[in-house]
Amino acid sequence: MDTKKQLTFPLLMSVGTAVIGSLQFGYNTGVINAPQKIIENFINETWVGRYEEPIPEISLTAIWSVAVAIFSIGGIIGSFSVGLFVNRFGRRNSMLMCNVLAFIAAALMGFSKHASSWEMLIIGRFVVGLYSGLSTGFVPMYVGEVSPTSLRGALGTLHQLGIVIGILIAQVFGIESIMGNKDLWPLLLGFTFIPAVIQCILLPLCPESPRFLLMNKGEENKAKSVLKKLRGTTDVGADMQEMKEESRQMKREKKATILELFRSPLYRQPLLIAVMLQLSQQLSGINAVFYYSTRIFEKAGVQQPVYATIGAGVVNTAFTVVSLFVVERAGRRSLHMLGLLGMAGSAVLMTIALALLEKHHWMSYVSIIAIFAFVAFFEIGPGPIPWFIVAELFSQGPRPAAMAIAGLSNWTANFIVGFGFQYVEALCGPYVFIIFTVLLLFFFIFTYFKVPETRGRTFDDITAGFNQTAAAGREKPSPDELNSLGADSQL
Ligand code: GLC
Repeated sequence: MDTKKQLTFPLLMSVGTAVIGSLQFGYNTGVINAPQKIIENFINETWVGRYEEPIPEISLTAIWSVAVAIFSIGGIIGSFSVGLFVNRFGRRNSMLMCNVLAFIAAALMGFSKHASSWEMLIIGRFVVGLYSGLSTGFVPMYVGEVSPTSLRGALGTLHQLGIVIGILIAQVFGIESIMGNKDLWPLLLGFTFIPAVIQCILLPLCPESPRFLLMNKGEENKAKSVLKKLRGTTDVGADMQEMKEESRQMKREKKATILELFRSPLYRQPLLIAVMLQLSQQLSGINAVFYYSTRIFEKAGVQQPVYATIGAGVVNTAFTVVSLFVVERAGRRSLHMLGLLGMAGSAVLMTIALALLEKHHWMSYVSIIAIFAFVAFFEIGPGPIPWFIVAELFSQGPRPAAMAIAGLSNWTANFIVGFGFQYVEALCGPYVFIIFTVLLLFFFIFTYFKVPETRGRTFDDITAGFNQTAAAGREKPSPDELNSLGADSQL
């Protein structure tokens, strides 16, 4: 079918509205970086106001680290809770509801200075982390379910595009002359309010996922009319057929709770792949760059580190757009492998640059090139693909539970790198990126041997592929075993 024809306004509007949630995640990932010094001053002033003495260095570091890292803790909890919402309230309504968290977080962070309370800042970061964790489950799931098969990868990449644009906006707004200053930083953090308002206005105009309507709710007519709108044609027979097929399959299964997902041999392979892909994204070291790039550039002798950081944000966005256009042609598997290998090469280059910096000052330029290349290769594959491939690897029944486990793995690894990087860097000095090189090569080999291509295949076909592998590896699961697998996944 003609791809252009399938790219209808209702489809674009639905996906565009959903990825406002991704933008929020990106914004809050990047926003805390630039104004660190200024917010630390606020914490100190508050401390002086309360105890009439300056804050001890150790307490300041601890409060700051908690304010940064608690975002990922919120993310871990949020992403793991996805299954509690999506089948009960639907995909769209879950996205709508979780905006309450964005409003609460915006208020807590935005008024923290006014209330002289860094505790409010910390709680606000936690709440917006919860929101972001939920979004990393809701958005790829909704986008995957409303997209036609031939566009699932390209539209799935829009989730990542939302994230990287969010990071970039935060980096730019965080410049001192814009909002990263003493007076305006509360506004910078409270800004999360605006996308939430926009999403609340637009989401009610977007349809519910037709897969959810048909398979979870049994509302065939509604599903059909949504599908007609999304596809811009009355001829939705093939889509309906495919969904019904999957629905029948789902009825034969009973439940796919998180525990059963681990127990069943049918899901072992896709689950391993889903988790490993999430780990490959985070353990690639990308957030060592996004959390600490300004410091890395500073150490590498770059004159204007803040602008180099923004440069990384621009490269990040540009290459996500590249991936968007090639992912349906080149396929997920090859792009992921290319990205991992390119990142490994860039990490080596970066190590060389940092190690030789004392001898050759021009190495600081090499370090900029290395970081830009590192980020570019990330966005070719390891950035966008893990987020949307999980929705592709599982059928409707086990999908929510699988997304929860994948999200949990992603956010936990994110937390580990975010928290651990400074300490490991202190130990290894310029050689810290060698660790990521080794990990990247490991994930490259794993992808080569284990990850199947999912481009252009229906959900049903992808799942059937795994079922065959599982059946070939052992005896077929008994009907009892099949019955214990799940349709209505919940925690
Ligand atoms: C991915 C990662 C996120 C990272 C971002 C960088 O979305 O999940 O942790 O900050 O890419 O672009």
